[in-house]
Amino acid sequence: MPADPTTMRARAAEFDQEHLFAFWNELDEGQRSALLADVERIDFGLVQKLSATGVTEQATYDPKQIEAPEVLPADPTGALVERYATARERGVAMLRASKVAAMVVAGGQGTRLGYDAPKGSFPIGPVSNKSLFQLFAENIRASQQRYGCRLPWYIMTSEATDADTRTYFEENKYFGLEPGEVTFFQQGVMPAVDDAGRILLAERHRVALSPNGHGGSLTALAERGVLDDLAMRGVEALSYFQVDNPLIAPADPLFIGLHALEQSQMSSIAVVKVDDLEKVGNFAKVGGKLQVIEYSDLPEELARAKNPDGTRMLNGGSVAIHMLAPQFVRALTGGGALQLPWHIAHKKVAHIDLSTGKAVQPDKPNARKFEMFIFDAIPLAERTLVLEQHRRDCFSPVKNATGVDSPETARRDLVRRALRWLAESGVKVPPEQDGEPAATVEISPLRALDAEQLRANAPKLDAVQPGARLMIE
Ligand code: UTP
Repeated sequence: MPADPTTMRARAAEFDQEHLFAFWNELDEGQRSALLADVERIDFGLVQKLSATGVTEQATYDPKQIEAPEVLPADPTGALVERYATARERGVAMLRASKVAAMVVAGGQGTRLGYDAPKGSFPIGPVSNKSLFQLFAENIRASQQRYGCRLPWYIMTSEATDADTRTYFEENKYFGLEPGEVTFFQQGVMPAVDDAGRILLAERHRVALSPNGHGGSLTALAERGVLDDLAMRGVEALSYFQVDNPLIAPADPLFIGLHALEQSQMSSIAVVKVDDLEKVGNFAKVGGKLQVIEYSDLPEELARAKNPDGTRMLNGGSVAIHMLAPQFVRALTGGGALQLPWHIAHKKVAHIDLSTGKAVQPDKPNARKFEMFIFDAIPLAERTLVLEQHRRDCFSPVKNATGVDSPETARRDLVRRALRWLAESGVKVPPEQDGEPAATVEISPLRALDAEQLRANAPKLDAVQPGARLMIE
């Protein structure tokens, strides 16, 4: 049913947003339909409520309420050795029984990278130039083969990335995956508002809408039928990751197994922070509940606080890798009741000047955008778990075009990991020179998903020579 202009206009007017129709009389039929479809997606009451808060909203924490969280170490000792072995077995059994699914959030706009296509199609393989999506797809395919299982993959897109992402997969024949095992689903949107709380127009007939944050994945899972699909397939663990991290292993038996053994509802991977003030989310216990505190919200004294033995109190950085119990997501989103906090960002948003009808490109932040973050679901869970992993094994995101967290650093970390796996498999590799890998080596996920598999699958590999450029298929 197309939206009715009179009703939509009245609804906008009720919330002082009638200016969205300022150019109505100049629009053709198609443009009018587009505008109405945008307006229909706006939750005006919510926008009004959020606009009433300040330009930015900062959470405040009472240091007395904050404690170090329990984190399972990356390298187990004592009784943990056996517990990890049991967990690994459980994880393998769950994989073999097809009780695991993978999910990537790929709805972001990727503004910092400045790449004119969905970020997942960005070439990142250091030798092969395979894209992020191809590496994930091959990782999932290799896991399906390794465990003889189904491992469905759910890809969250947004309006900005949906069509291009689907086309990209079709053109590349799903990188060898069964198309029926890959499901795309779209997240919701929120409008941008100016400092007076007025919703901006991106064009005369389009509202300035943007994706509602990775936390929007939880409602999207429910609303787009993914939870039903997971239930039908008997999936008990949903492996969540971000599109920008080429080091991810979505089917990690240890993480899956610990999550299952502990009956955790939402589990997380942590890495040791590089320094006190590193710009990552911090795992902490707040009033007894596990949560992630954004670096910008963490009082400096807490960021620098030490345990009696001199180690950092809040040492676990969040890398946006989680394991979710579908039933937990179902319970959270049942009846549309999910209330994650909204994070408000003050940003530059291009828009139409209402008096002139001309496009404006602001040179300083002029608008507020609203987003939900996935980690805000952690304190809503009764049972949680944090597992530390070595950063070099699991995390090197592609965020910026150059410098830290860029394609260059991600490729270097892929090469370093490949060289480490080779060395662990008994292959001679050249030592780093001036802190840089001395050869460029890439290992296809289809050949090995970890050092153990490389060892097992390795017909004798020759020593890697300094300066070599090598693809191990
Ligand atoms: P980022 O916070 O890095 O945002 O997203 P981004 O949009 O990719 O990049 P910038 O900030 O514009 O440069 C982290 C992960 O969350 C996903 C992204 O696709 C990425 O995998 N994401 C983010 C969504 O799926 N939806 C959103 O609304 C926001």
